[in-house]
Parts: sequence; structure tokens; C-alpha cells
Amino acid sequence: DWKMSDFVGETIDSVRRQVGDATVICGLSGGVDSSVVASLIHKAIGDQLVCILVDNGLLRRNERQTIVATFRDHFHIDLRVVDWSQQFLAALQGVTEPQQKRKIIGAEFIAAFKSEAAKIPNARFLAQGTLYPDVIESGSKDGNPAANIKLHHNVGGLPAELGFELVEPLRDLFKDEVRLVGEHLGLPEDMVWRHPFPGPGLGVRIVGEVTPERLEVLRAADEILIDEIKAAGLYRQISQALAVLVPVSTVGVMGDERSYESVIALRAVETTDFMTADFSHIPYDVLGLISTRIINEVRGVNRVVYDVSSKPPATIEWE
Ligand code: XMP
Repeated sequence: DWKMSDFVGETIDSVRRQVGDATVICGLSGGVDSSVVASLIHKAIGDQLVCILVDNGLLRRNERQTIVATFRDHFHIDLRVVDWSQQFLAALQGVTEPQQKRKIIGAEFIAAFKSEAAKIPNARFLAQGTLYPDVIESGSKDGNPAANIKLHHNVGGLPAELGFELVEPLRDLFKDEVRLVGEHLGLPEDMVWRHPFPGPGLGVRIVGEVTPERLEVLRAADEILIDEIKAAGLYRQISQALAVLVPVSTVGVMGDERSYESVIALRAVETTDFMTADFSHIPYDVLGLISTRIINEVRGVNRVVYDVSSKPPATIEWE
């Protein structure tokens, strides 16, 4: 529609004016905001854009491959993947406290990003998916206190010490407008309508210690949850759905044997602003199907529970 093409056209002009012939770096997470920023800036300056994807080892199953397929193979964007997963997992060893996890993940992210950015000559600008609500929130000292309960380490949270000038083409937009821009730019539907996924990834969905084995359990459960929600046609109505690996073993029966295995908690919420949220009233038969599949297919899990808490007082994530 004409308003979208106006926005895209004007933004392309202003990005070109701002950056001249310098190189722009963009941290890509696979989320809506960074994806739209990358494709918008690529439209404006083509090969002057270099994207960096940090594989923190805490991504969903196939997430890295999907991002590479979309941006490198489909849009022909210069995308560098930094596999820093060993460093993240080593730094997280033995850590159970959520804020501590976030601090470690944030610090490793900066280290990974820095090391890759140093290989890019003539890089003067950093593109970020800052949205209008972020602009307002950081402008008000005592905005919504709930926003400050968790330390947020987004891709958008790279420190000023890196010395880049910022390019923030989405600063005037709300989330739903960003999705429309994404559709207009031809991003895949899966990407445009993707639920938010936290920067610390699966690291804050494994209550307790993050280990490679526990990550595999959670990845398998998460994939089943998302697949079945999509198959039931509920993905767009739900604002965010997630699986949590709980550090509790419970007793079950497997054939004639007693089992003593992990619990997976499912959470799905409906919200417009993520500051308050209601649990999603997913039909029991859909919950039943997800539960059966997880228990049958994911080794090490013998019980699935559904989280029926509202935010507040419960947050969306468990950590
Ligand atoms: P909570 O759990 O605070 O989550 O109700 C609200 C929204 O923020 C996301 N979230 C994060 N995003 N880094 C992020 O980038 C974080 O550390 C983080 N913690 C929570 C959460 O997924 C939800 O969309």
C-alpha cells in the first residue's frame, strides 16, 4: 500500500544519506526487528551491509540454518556466522542464577560480536532494530517498573564503547507496523509473525544449570510445542509460546518400569504489550496432543504441565 512504500522509500533515502559509502554492521538474531532492519538497509546500500549472527549455542533447533537460508541464500546478504557456542556453554557451566546467566550471556555476546566486527574494514555504523516503545521507555526514568525486573541483553543492547554510529530505521514504528514493513519487503511469513524470543535464548528456559544434554531435551520439546500450535492454527492468536525445562524429576511408569524423569512446563500467553499478559486458553485436545508427543518423543521427560498464571504477578519467562 502507498503508505508502506512511502515509508520504505524515505527510509532508504535517509539511510543512504546518513552512511555515504561506509560499511554498516547489523546483528541478526532471526527476530522480526533485526530481520526487517537488515532487509531494509540491504535495499538501501546492498553490499555495504554486513550482518553478523552470533550462534550462542542457545538457539532453537534449526534456527541458525533457517536464518542463513533466508538471508544469505535468499536475499544474498553478506552474513557472517560466529559460532561462539562453546564459549557460551563453558561460561555458563555451574551457573543457576537467572540474572547471572543474563550477565554472562550478555558479556559473551559482546565478545563474540566484537571479534567478528574487528574483521570488517571500514565499518563505521551499527544498525539496530530500536522501536518507538524502546525510545519512550529509555527516555522515562521511572517508566513501567516491570520493564526493569529482568536485565535485558538484546542485540540492540551493544554498548557505546564499541564506537559505532547508530542507524535506527525503525525508531518511529510500533511492532505491528514493523511486521507490515516486513511483509512489504517480502520477508517470509514465518519470520514476520514470529513470536518474540529472548536474547539469552533457551538459556533462561532451562531452570538450573544449562548443559548440552538439557539443551537437547528443551529443543526437542520446544519444536513439538511450536509445530503443534501452528498445526492447530493458533500461532497467530498466541503472542508467545514457550517450553521450560524444570529441574525437578517426578515418578512415572514406562511399561512395567518405574521412571524418574524431568518435567516440561508449557507456557503460552496473549498480550498486546508484554507488560501484562493472560495465559492462552489453548483447547485441551491440543494440549493433550502436545503432551503425548513430548512424553513419547523426548527422552528424559515423563511429565508435561501447563502454566496457567497471568502476568503480573508471574512473568512470561520462568527466569
Ligand atoms: P517477562 O518474562 O519479563 O518477558 O514477562 C517479557 C518479554 O521479554 C522477553 N524477555 C527478554 N528478552 N532478553 C530479551 O531480549 C531478556 O533477557 C529477556 N527476558 C525476557 C520475554 O521473552 C517476553 O517476550
